[in-house]
Amino acid sequence: MKQEINITPELQARIDELLSHYPADKKKSAMLPVLHAVQDAHNDWLSVELMDKVAEILEVKPIEVYEVVTFYTMFNQKPKGKYMLEFCRTSCCAIRKGEELMEYTCKKLGVKEGEVTPDGLFSVVGVECLGACGFGPMLQLGDYYHEFLTEEKIDALIEDCRQGKVKLH
Ligand code: FES
Repeated sequence: MKQEINITPELQARIDELLSHYPADKKKSAMLPVLHAVQDAHNDWLSVELMDKVAEILEVKPIEVYEVVTFYTMFNQKPKGKYMLEFCRTSCCAIRKGEELMEYTCKKLGVKEGEVTPDGLFSVVGVECLGACGFGPMLQLGDYYHEFLTEEKIDALIEDCRQGKVKLH
């Protein structure tokens, strides 16, 4: 999918500020914060072209950026729904039916993992431990955790999202 690349003066200033924390010949060290800043400014996803642009900014090979983006689930390689439901699929949540709840959610929304609903509202992804192991099964939505999940809680959360009642940040 085509993505418009727009390194605005504001984004460039943010990148420069991030780079200023590292030696001039070690721009690669700023890769994670720079990728976050660039992704935030580009509708929350990173196309190959945009990753190439980041490689140019950091003076590294494109493959070095691809390696990082494909490793971390917080970087999206394709557009995501407005509400991205990130289910923890690691052991503590898994033994408390986290995977079944993710499957339930996919079925309810009519999507497979990683797909976006036709209305552009939702996507569902599985991620590794989010550090709330004692509160599982859980998911992250925007900056917030939703814990001790049940089918009923997921139904209510989806409904609240549809009605625009859910805060992401
Ligand atoms: S195992 Fe799910 S938050 Fe740690």
